[in-house]
Amino acid sequence: MFCDPVLRWAGGKRWLIPIISPLLPRRYSMYYEPFLGGGAVFFSLIRGSACLSDLNHELINFYQILRSKPLRLFNSLYQRHPSKDEYYYIRSRQVQHDYQRAAKLYYLNRMSFNGLYRVNKYGEFNVPFGRKPSANVVEREGMLQASEKLRRAIIIQADFEDAVKNAGRGTIVYFDPPYTAMHSNNGFVKYNENIFRWEDQVRLSKIARWLARRGVNVFVSNAGHNSIRKLYKGFSCKIVTRKSMIAASSCCRDTINEYLFFT
Ligand SMILES: C[S@@+](CC[C@H](N)C(=O)[O-])C[C@H]1O[C@@H](n2cnc3c(N)ncnc32)[C@H](O)[C@@H]1O
Repeated sequence: MFCDPVLRWAGGKRWLIPIISPLLPRRYSMYYEPFLGGGAVFFSLIRGSACLSDLNHELINFYQILRSKPLRLFNSLYQRHPSKDEYYYIRSRQVQHDYQRAAKLYYLNRMSFNGLYRVNKYGEFNVPFGRKPSANVVEREGMLQASEKLRRAIIIQADFEDAVKNAGRGTIVYFDPPYTAMHSNNGFVKYNENIFRWEDQVRLSKIARWLARRGVNVFVSNAGHNSIRKLYKGFSCKIVTRKSMIAASSCCRDTINEYLFFT
């Protein structure tokens, strides 16, 4: 069963689906997505077992709750008529239980500006209100489908390196890291407290190479910048073009080139 992602996520890869789909092997024993975010590739294309992970513990808590307690999650969702005041009230509320935290993340994700996830130095979510008039608070059907799909997945909070250390021949690993490039303003986004530094990009390219040597089918999305291309010398490379989603107004969104590397 395939379905749409349930969260909006900066750097989300819905637009990449028709490009990556024909490149994925038809048979594989396990799919790894260690920079999960909204998980567009997983939800849209993957059947069978998967290991899904991300460093963002609120995001992982959300998916774990969606998988195991979808009804509890629905019952905790804020069903009132959404407004700017309500958004800031909910944003400032401290909640304890894992299902309440999941409900809060889902609400903020639907109502915040461009669905961005960003926290200040105290770890507090600080994205302003930005609900699209058409957005519903709860997309119940879509969430139930996603919950069903997550049943066959392992979902863990982890750094990407730990998450893929057991991947072997016949598996797929798709890396979609935050985009940092040397000397570039190309798509740099701060997703959470842990900034993805240049050293992390280098570390990632080494892991990708190590996995490729083990017979893993490796795919890497990254910024269309020379410094990145050098890191993946020897990989097949597709240049893919998309519209930037970061500018506030759609008229100001530039076209951006990205790379898709694969083995
Ligand atoms: C570009 S987004 C992934 C978007 C996703 N492919 C989608 O379709 O929505 C990058 C993700 O990497 C996560 N991240 C950042 N540093 C990480 C690390 N060291 N290990 C694992 N995940 C990390 C962020 O929390 C963010 O969710």
